Amino acid sequence: MGVTDTVMQSYGRCCAKADFFDDFYQHFLASSPKVREKFVNTDMVGQKRLLRQGILNLVMYARGMPDTKLKALGQTHNRHGFDIGPELYDIWLHSLLSTIKKHDQQYSPEIADAWKDVLIKGINVIKAHY
Ligand code: HEM
Repeated sequence: MGVTDTVMQSYGRCCAKADFFDDFYQHFLASSPKVREKFVNTDMVGQKRLLRQGILNLVMYARGMPDTKLKALGQTHNRHGFDIGPELYDIWLHSLLSTIKKHDQQYSPEIADAWKDVLIKGINVIKAHY
């Protein structure tokens, strides 16, 4: 099984948990005041739905889909948009991996490595537009 299949299956198990995205944002917002200040005016219910799709975009990109969606995210998140500094993506990745660890009952170091592999590729596309 390739790394992207491993990730898709792990993501399926995570999305089946009703509080996966609640937990992610709880973790992410608690991680830094810089992160919290970005979301002061955000409807977090809508944001959780958007992130579900956003993560899927990262996985699809690693599977070979064109980078169109990620370039668009790169534009909205860049210095002229939400102004998300590249260092905040490390916190994002760390928060997501911690949340996956908690929710994927099959979590293992191999699964963690597969996720890192897949996510870093797409995150680099987004960051490149900063
Ligand atoms: C909005 C995905 C990383 C802060 C969004 C949206 C998506 C998304 C799909 C809504 C669509 C849009 O406005 O473009 C992602 C993905 C990320 C990521 C896949 C990781 C690779 C981050 C990070 C931060 C952040 C690290 C830092 C705090 C925001 C903010 C918004 C947003 C502030 C706008 C919220 C609002 O509408 O009030 N993100 N994002 N994102 N993201 Fe991200």
